[in-house]
Amino acid sequence: MSKSPSSRRDFLATSARTATAVGLAGSCASCAWFNKNDIQVEARPEDQTLTLSFERHPALKDPHGTVNVEARDGDVRLVILRRPDGQLVALSMECTHWGCDVDWDKAKAHFECPCHGSLFDASGAVLEGPADEPLRAYPVTETETGCVVQLTPTA
Ligand code: FES
Repeated sequence: MSKSPSSRRDFLATSARTATAVGLAGSCASCAWFNKNDIQVEARPEDQTLTLSFERHPALKDPHGTVNVEARDGDVRLVILRRPDGQLVALSMECTHWGCDVDWDKAKAHFECPCHGSLFDASGAVLEGPADEPLRAYPVTETETGCVVQLTPTA
């Protein structure tokens, strides 16, 4: 039994779309794998909070200073940032588009995703897509000597 030209054309078009989708998904996974930021602090898998001192992490006192943290065996990857307005924030470094690591651009005062160009402000809000969700935020409390980060995101 032979297929009609239109059904064969449909089949080929569907196959091409599927191959493209699989290829893009594969390359995205590669992006996430190869674009991991340097991690300065690794929490223990069982840690619910993480305490960082200014003495050991002086960047946390500097405007635009950052410290990258990994917790829960790599399931949680955060950047702790001293925002230009002076407030400390802890944000997931995973872009909400396809998961590549975002980088803090000190000169432009925003996070940028190297994979497809999404931009996020210093609070994690989307400035430019394709991402359409903000970076996940984690509660952080500043103390006299440092900060305490909850390793569960804000609801
Ligand atoms: S992974 Fe696509 S913009 Fe970040």
